[in-house]
Amino acid sequence: MRLLLATQNKGKLRELEAVLGDLGVKLVSLSEFNDLPTATEDGATFEENARKKALHYWHLTKVPTIADDSGLVVDALGGRPGVLSARYARDDRARIDRLLTELKHLDSAEAKRLRTARFVCAICVVLSEGALIEVVGEVCGYITTEPRGEGGFGYDPVFYYPPAEKTFAEMEASQKNSVSHRAEALTKLNRRFLELPGRDADS
Ligand code: IMP
Repeated sequence: MRLLLATQNKGKLRELEAVLGDLGVKLVSLSEFNDLPTATEDGATFEENARKKALHYWHLTKVPTIADDSGLVVDALGGRPGVLSARYARDDRARIDRLLTELKHLDSAEAKRLRTARFVCAICVVLSEGALIEVVGEVCGYITTEPRGEGGFGYDPVFYYPPAEKTFAEMEASQKNSVSHRAEALTKLNRRFLELPGRDADS
C-alpha cells in the first residue's frame, strides 16, 4: 500500500517509515506532488487537526494519506500551549522561556507536583472515502523549573519523565522514542493496520 505523508518534516518521514515499512506500507512524500495548497491547522484538538490535514491531502490527491498533530498540554495552564505548541513563541528557546515564566508561581518545592503535563500525538489515516483510522498516544510527566539536557527538540529539555528520572532531552534518543507520545500512537496504528482485511494485497 502507498501512503502519502502529510508533512514536509523529514524526521517524521523516517520515524513513520521505520514502523510502517515492516507492514509493507510505502510512504510517499508531499514533495512528489506539485504546488498542493497547505492545510489549515485551526482545529480545537490534536485529533481534529490530524483529521483535517489527512482529509485535505486525500481530497487533493486521492492517495491514502497519513497526518499527525502533536504538542504539549500543561494542566496548570488549562491545557495550553496545546494545539498552539508550535506557535507559542518564535523558536524553541523562546517557547521554553515563555512556558517557564507562565509557571513561575509554581516554582516552590511544594508546588512542583502541580506542574503536571503531557505530550499528545494524534494520527489520522484516510484510506478511502469515509474509511479513517484514528489513534492518539500520550506520555505524562512534569515541567521542570529550568531546562536540562541537550538532546531531542522542542519542549524536551523541560519535560521530566519520572520513570527515567530524566528530562526527555537527557534521555538517549532511542529511549525517548520508545516511550514517547508518538511511539504510543504508532504502536496503536501498527496494531490497527495489522487488523485491516487483505492488508497484504497490492494497492
Ligand atoms: P507538530 O506536530 O509538528 O505540529 O508539532 C507541534 C509542536 O509540539 C512542536 O513544534 C514542538 O514544539 C512540540 N512537540 C511535539 N512533539 C514533541 C516532542 O516529542 N518533544 C518536544 N516537543 C514536541
